Amino acid sequence: MKIIVCKNHEEVSLKASELVINQLKSKANSVLGLATGSTPIRLYELLVDAYQKKEISFKDVVSFNLDEYIGIDRLHPQSYYQFMQRNLFGLVDIKKENIHIPNNEVKNNEEIAKLYIEELSKQQIDLQILGLGTNGHIGFNEPGTPFGNQAFVVELNEQTRKDNMRFFDSLEEVPKHAVTMGIKDIMQSKQIILMASGAEKAEAVYKMIRGEVCKKLPASVLQLHPNVVVIIDELAASKL
Ligand code: GLP
Repeated sequence: MKIIVCKNHEEVSLKASELVINQLKSKANSVLGLATGSTPIRLYELLVDAYQKKEISFKDVVSFNLDEYIGIDRLHPQSYYQFMQRNLFGLVDIKKENIHIPNNEVKNNEEIAKLYIEELSKQQIDLQILGLGTNGHIGFNEPGTPFGNQAFVVELNEQTRKDNMRFFDSLEEVPKHAVTMGIKDIMQSKQIILMASGAEKAEAVYKMIRGEVCKKLPASVLQLHPNVVVIIDELAASKL
């Protein structure tokens, strides 16, 4: 694990954007694994800037999103489908057919996961972007998730729903289920960049890096991956 401690979230985003931009410059048809949440928003803005300056193109990029809520449709402003349209896909030249986000409009939950596993099996992710839940989750792999899981439907835990309440009008409106890439899918990526900022992530960051590798702290599995870059700000690094 390579650990880069930056002064603040802006620097975390800049550092991550450099790595993504280099990836796209060296391989125009890169397969990117993408995250949602507040952490990567600035990164996406910087990628859009680089696209507008013609430094990079998304014309041949293929993307796979980590996760999606179940119980709200794709048109809901808080669906991850809409998040990606607003923050990246709607602003660059990525082809619609190259975008993969679990399809939460399929009626049967098991079917949503099965379809995503099929899509994921066709390509290997070159670079996976990850955020970090305050409870150490990655994607929506909550504490206790077996490391061998492929994409599956998860019941979100209370802490995660509370953390994500800020995007909704009330806790009741936060979906209770989501579909997420499994830890096995994430670990198959060639390279992983995990970004985290803020004091509320410090405990999870500490356990991810210094703790034992165990299901209780899903992100600790990254210690077993050969090519992980952890980019964090000083607050998130404060317990190291
Ligand atoms: C959500 C997402 C995760 C994300 C995490 C952290 O639960 N499913 O992929 O990493 O939140 O979110 P934030 O970046 O807003 O702190």
